[in-house]
Amino acid sequence: MFETLKSPPPDGILKLMQMYREDPRDGKIDLGVGVYKDASGLTPIMRAIKAAEHTLWETQDTKVYTGLAGDPAFADAMIDLVLASAVARETIAAVATPGGTGAVRQAFELIQMARPDARVFVSDPTWPNHISILGYLGMNVERYRYFDEETRGVDFEGMLADLKTAKAGDVVLLHGCCHNPTGANLNMTQWQEVVDVLLETGAVPMVDIAYQGFGDGLEEDAAATRLVASSVPECLIAASCSKNFGIYRERTGLLMAISQNAAARKLHQDTLAFLNRQNYSFPPDHGARLVTMILTDDGLRADWQTELEDVRLSMLALRQQLADELQRISGSDRFGFLAQHRGMFSRLGTTPDKVEVMREKNGIYMIGDSRMNIAGLNAQTIPILAKAIVDAGV
Ligand code: LMR
Repeated sequence: MFETLKSPPPDGILKLMQMYREDPRDGKIDLGVGVYKDASGLTPIMRAIKAAEHTLWETQDTKVYTGLAGDPAFADAMIDLVLASAVARETIAAVATPGGTGAVRQAFELIQMARPDARVFVSDPTWPNHISILGYLGMNVERYRYFDEETRGVDFEGMLADLKTAKAGDVVLLHGCCHNPTGANLNMTQWQEVVDVLLETGAVPMVDIAYQGFGDGLEEDAAATRLVASSVPECLIAASCSKNFGIYRERTGLLMAISQNAAARKLHQDTLAFLNRQNYSFPPDHGARLVTMILTDDGLRADWQTELEDVRLSMLALRQQLADELQRISGSDRFGFLAQHRGMFSRLGTTPDKVEVMREKNGIYMIGDSRMNIAGLNAQTIPILAKAIVDAGV
C-alpha cells in the first residue's frame, strides 16, 4: 500500500542542516537553522532551566497527565509574558502545544474549522514552514509584499496596499518581532497603521511570536503583539519558548485565541482542547513546567532575564561587527542594514547562486534565500564571512 507515497518536498532549512553535518571541512560555518550558539559554538542550556530541572527532579512526584490544554499555570505565565495586561484574561482561550510550530499548526486548523475558505495572508517571504503547513492542510495562501530587496528593510507601502485587499473572513499572519527570515521589522507607528488596516478590512490577525527577547528586549519585542491583541475584536497568537528559553527539543509553545466577546471564550477553549485531543492528545509538559517555574519565581526569572539579555546583546554586537567589517573591506556602507535588522536572522539579499558559491568555496552555510543565522557567527568567523560576501560580489 505505501508504494503509492510520493517523496515529500524537501525542507530547505533541514536539508541545509544535513549538508552541514556531512561536510568534512574544518573551517565550515553554520549560519543555517535558527538555533542560538554562544561564542564557542555551543547551544547552552540556560542556567535557570538547569536550576528548574534540578528542583523538578527533586520535587516532582508524578508524571500523570495534565489537562488537554496543558497546565493552566503555564498558560497564565505565558499570557503574562507575552501580553502582560494588554488584554483581559477572561477573553483569552489558550492551550499548550508542542513548540511554536504546534501552536501555528493548531491555529491554522482552528481557522480551517471556522472558515474552510479563509485566505491566509503571509509575508513575502515568511518562515517556509508556514507555507508548507498551509499547503499540507489545503488552505488558501496569499502573499503580501514585505521585504524590499533594495533597502533590505520593509516595503511598507507594498505591505499596506496588499493587506488592504484582505477581507473579513481572511487571516493576516504577522511576525510579532524579529521577522524570520529577513530580520527587517516594522516600527510601532507602522504597526499602528497595520492595525488600522486590519480594523478597516475586518481580517483577523494571527501573530507568530517565536523570538521574544531576541530583538530589542522582552517588553519591547512584545509591544506589537500587545498592540494588535488589544485593538482588534479577534486575534490568534502562537508563542514559542524554544529560543528564548533555549529548550528547542522540549517542544514548548502556547496558542492563544482572543475574542473581545468574553462569551466566546468557552467555545474557543473547548475547540482548542478538542484539536489537541485529535492531534496528539495531551501536550508535552516538561518544558512548559520549567517555563512556568521560571516565570513564577522571582530569583529564577531574574536570572533567566539576565542570561537572555546577554544573548540578545551578543547578537547585536555580532551584527555591528559584521556590518563594520563589511564596510571596512568593501569601502561602502551598503551593508549597514545588518546592524538595523533584529533577531536571529538577516537576509543578505543575494542570489541562490552566490549563496552556493559561498558554501562550495568557503564552507559557509546560509539558507538558499540568503538568510543568515547571526548567532552562528563569532569574532573569528566574521572576517571570513565578510570576505566571502565581498568576494562573491554581493
Ligand atoms: C528556523 O527558522 O530555522 C527555526 O524556526 C527552526 C525551524 O524549525 O525551522
